[in-house]
Amino acid sequence: MTYYIGLMSGTSMDGIDAALLNFSDNKCRVLDSHSHEIPAKLITRLQKVIQSEIFNIRELGTLDVELGKLFAEAAKQLLRNNQTNASEIIAIGSHGQTVFHAPDCNPPFTLQIGDPNTIAQLTGITTVADFRRRDMAAGGQGAPLAPAFHHHYFRSDAHNRVILNIGGIANITVLSADKQKPVFGFDTGPGNCLLDSWIKQHLNQPFDTNGEWGTTGTTIPELLASLLQDNYFSLAAPKTTGREYFNLHWLNQHRPNDEPQNTQATLAQLTIESIARAIEIHAPDTDEVYVCGGGAFNTALMQGLDARLNNSAVTTTSELGADPEWVEAAAFAWLAKQTLAHRPGNISSVTGANEAVILGGIYPGKQRTK
Ligand SMILES: Nc1ncnc2c1ncn2[C@@H]1O[C@H](COP(=O)(O)OP(=O)(O)O)[C@@H](O)[C@H]1O
Ligand SMILES: [Mg+2]
Repeated sequence: MTYYIGLMSGTSMDGIDAALLNFSDNKCRVLDSHSHEIPAKLITRLQKVIQSEIFNIRELGTLDVELGKLFAEAAKQLLRNNQTNASEIIAIGSHGQTVFHAPDCNPPFTLQIGDPNTIAQLTGITTVADFRRRDMAAGGQGAPLAPAFHHHYFRSDAHNRVILNIGGIANITVLSADKQKPVFGFDTGPGNCLLDSWIKQHLNQPFDTNGEWGTTGTTIPELLASLLQDNYFSLAAPKTTGREYFNLHWLNQHRPNDEPQNTQATLAQLTIESIARAIEIHAPDTDEVYVCGGGAFNTALMQGLDARLNNSAVTTTSELGADPEWVEAAAFAWLAKQTLAHRPGNISSVTGANEAVILGGIYPGKQRTK
């Protein structure tokens, strides 16, 4: 047994990312990956629960198990593609699908579904899941959790780095070259979520390929200024957010009445500007920014960030040997490894937890005969 599998489905619900990893020799090698489709009907049902249109425990319960089956299928497909046997996998790290993230509720809570019992049962592989709630129980935001992985594999003694994940929401991990400085990071605000929702509403496309539709419009300065005035952007870290907050309802409060492509251009600029300000204010010494997540494939966003952040080089994590598409899935495989080794997975200076804790629950796989 040498390998791990990471399973991740973020707020974009663009598919389940499944990655096969080898962490031996203290390296992180993505041996293969597979993006598993989430059926449209399931996405619609999930969206209804996420947007709180449905308050039905039966619906939530069945979705939990159905997603568990789908996560298991994603892992099994990855194994089939690689002619790899389940017995070669030490563990699956499964993030689950966030249906609600509410660090500001009293008490705070966060809920990821995709039943790990089902994953362990159907794959026969030990599954580690429910990572976020332990950090919350320790007083943290429950997010972001990828920073410990970023720190382990991407920190440099020579350069001040920022790892920027642009998923539905964008988050940064600040890795100082100075070992004495604590790692920190937070959600900067919307990544792709508003861009996706706006193009879905107007052109019925799931995302703006390479940001091209946005580039046919021009930024509306008044709208951008109004959006940037939102309190979230000036909140002190630790802070995390989600689609419960940054959604079309939020956007409509700012009256985007212009041509839709101009609003799209403005939303791209909002993502760029909110990220750039977060880096300038909280990590002014940054000289390298490495982007991961689906936003790394949005050419317009990448060019906009590079032009805006003129003190740092903006590239993708490919430069560090990690395909941007699989970094988050790899992070959850690594977090599973940490948990099985009884090592902490959170960084308290990032999440605000009162201590570093061992994350997640362990759902044992099939009993093996030696
Ligand atoms: N070629 C592309 N052009 C523009 N945007 C892209 C492209 N490829 C992926 N994306 C964006 O990335 C998103 C998925 O990113 P991902 O990191 O999987 O986010 P999440 O973690 O929220 O699922 C898509 O919804 C889309 O907005
Ligand atoms: Mg995704």
